[in-house]
Amino acid sequence: MPTLVFFLTARFTFLARCLVAHQSSMMDGLPYTEAEIKAHCQTHLASVKSRFDDPEAAFVVLPPKGAGARYGVKLAGGFQKPALNYERAFMEFLSSDSKYYRVPKIYAMFEDERYAYLVMEYLEGPTMWQVMGEGTTQLSPKDANDIAVAFLELRNGGKRIQDLQKAGSLTPLEHWDPQGYMFSPDGDGGRILLNQSDFVSFMTSRFKEAGMDISAISLDEWVLTHGDLTPRNLKRCTDGRIGILDYRTMFLAPTWWEFYALHLCGESNFWIGPLKEAMRRQRITAPATLVEALDAKWIPWFSTRGGAWAR
Ligand SMILES: *[C@@H]1O[C@H](CO)[C@@H](O)[C@H](O)[C@H]1NC(C)=O
Repeated sequence: MPTLVFFLTARFTFLARCLVAHQSSMMDGLPYTEAEIKAHCQTHLASVKSRFDDPEAAFVVLPPKGAGARYGVKLAGGFQKPALNYERAFMEFLSSDSKYYRVPKIYAMFEDERYAYLVMEYLEGPTMWQVMGEGTTQLSPKDANDIAVAFLELRNGGKRIQDLQKAGSLTPLEHWDPQGYMFSPDGDGGRILLNQSDFVSFMTSRFKEAGMDISAISLDEWVLTHGDLTPRNLKRCTDGRIGILDYRTMFLAPTWWEFYALHLCGESNFWIGPLKEAMRRQRITAPATLVEALDAKWIPWFSTRGGAWAR
């Protein structure tokens, strides 16, 4: 009897392999082959070369096939490659439905010598940058409010995020390569952080060195934080929800991190002004004294000495 079962199983596995091979490596749930996706990305990179400001990261919208949904590819090369793993982990982690926000669904990820490719759903609808007339008009109170409400839900949202909080993890992969405006000018914290307690010792040693009073900095309450709220990273989806793009700087952060990252993001007051106001109404905020101290001590210290601080 066991022999028969083995025989049937082997036959079945063999047949299944033939079926997969027959589809000439069309990717799971996608109307493209890996080779087609790479070719589209090459063409895109060649066409934007001269005005492309970040050759190590790009987003390519694939040409549609038929009347179906569109797909996009996030490309990362060089130092950006590891960040793509965190992005993928968060997008899969957050894929559950929210009334307020949308996260692109992930279809595939693969790599070649030069790039890592993350293939995802393309969220239809204008970016907030386009909604604001390419930055020429102020963010409306309604748009600002919808964004703040979406991020309030994301912050503490649901049992799965609470499980990460309890496990002491920084991301669904537990560890994180720290990135973001706190680490200006390169946006890179300098070493991998294993978990929340590692993050606390990393930041505490640096805050002290920057001459800050660490007793005034809360590092014991963790909320999911996007960390790069700019008008190009958010969309008004065609179904009315807020589409969230770019998960490189997302992690379980101290409560004040999101507001302070917005404060540092370098966008015009057409964006920062209304959004800070809306976030304050949802209690997504940072103590004014902390903002002042970080501006006065942290930023100048990190930009000159932080990158080389090894601990
Ligand atoms: C964090 O990581 C360190 C080093 O791997 C480990 O010793 C520590 O127990 C971890 N802490 C938690 C809360 O998991």
